[in-house]
Amino acid sequence: MNKNIAVIFGDGIGPEVTQQSIKVLDAVAEQFGHEFSYNYCIMGAVAIDKTGDPLPGKTIDVCRASDAVLFGAIGHPKYDNDPSAKVRRPEQGLLRLRKTLQLFANIRPITTYQSLHNLSPLKNKNLENVDFIIFRELTGGIYFGNKQVNEDHTWASDDCAYTKEEIERIAHPAFQSAQKRKKKLTLVDKANVLETSRLWRKVIQDIASKYRNVEVNYMFVDNAVMQIILNPKQFDVILTDNLFGDIISDEASVIAGSIGLLPSASIGNSIALFEPIHGSYPQAAGKDIANPLGSILSAAMMLDYFNLSEEADLVRKAVEWTIIHAMVSKDIDPINFYFTSTIGDLISDYIGGRIPGSINKGNVELRKSTII
Ligand code: IPM
Ligand code: MG
Repeated sequence: MNKNIAVIFGDGIGPEVTQQSIKVLDAVAEQFGHEFSYNYCIMGAVAIDKTGDPLPGKTIDVCRASDAVLFGAIGHPKYDNDPSAKVRRPEQGLLRLRKTLQLFANIRPITTYQSLHNLSPLKNKNLENVDFIIFRELTGGIYFGNKQVNEDHTWASDDCAYTKEEIERIAHPAFQSAQKRKKKLTLVDKANVLETSRLWRKVIQDIASKYRNVEVNYMFVDNAVMQIILNPKQFDVILTDNLFGDIISDEASVIAGSIGLLPSASIGNSIALFEPIHGSYPQAAGKDIANPLGSILSAAMMLDYFNLSEEADLVRKAVEWTIIHAMVSKDIDPINFYFTSTIGDLISDYIGGRIPGSINKGNVELRKSTII
């Protein structure tokens, strides 16, 4: 299979984690006889610095001409607290790209690994069998509503609006995902207060009749954030709006043990974008210590999207293999950690069949971190 992949490294640790995904994709291509070509383009702080625009038009053209987009991370502290930089924030690049490519459904699976249960502040018994998936609406709501601020900066407002169509187009894939899973869908909203949430409930109730084998629940977001911590295994598919989805997906990463582990896919009508859910982690940039697994698992979601499920499963198996053998990055093991690039090499080797069933710890140890 031949695929053109647009690659946007972005800011901070974006380049180094995305490079590991490319290694892994190359190993998959070699092993299975595919051809992946990469078209590199820029977005975020790096694009502001080079062109004055966080999302240059050329980047949009490259993405549109590709089969999928692989993205790293966005944001730089130099733009965080400068109100005059407001109109040129790096994050605006990503928001505009999502809107331009109409990536309306952001899919964030939450899985746990037995050997990482100790990392989570949650009790072990609450982590067994946790496996749910968040469908976050990505191109509407308060993120994209009308924004205003008065002249003397003493008043500001952000509108939150949704149309029936915007809700329907993400609800269908969420229901279809539930049908293939545990057949349970939870709509997270604030319908006791917000008009938009009441519209979500009405639309979901109407659609539910088409998916009779899916059990539908409704949960207020304040309760949901508590339930995600108290009893996460009750969830199968969570469907929610843009802002609630942003918040609960970071919260849910605590279940996995590290935000560095979580991948995501953003799907639209034509093209799809794959990115880890973590940010640009500027303090770690260039140090080869960031966790590449969120990006590598996003690449696995990209393979699924290409209908290469055997390949995607092998990538996930390779990731699990590194975790089981404690070949993990600093966020997971601050003392005996492996470098970002080493983890990328190990996963590629596993995919290429270059690692025997019983690992030669001695060789692997050689590539281990020595900077402690
Ligand atoms: C995410 C991020 C983005 C968002 C930021 C970087 C704009 O937090 O993808 O979750 O809020 O959507
Ligand atoms: Mg977020």
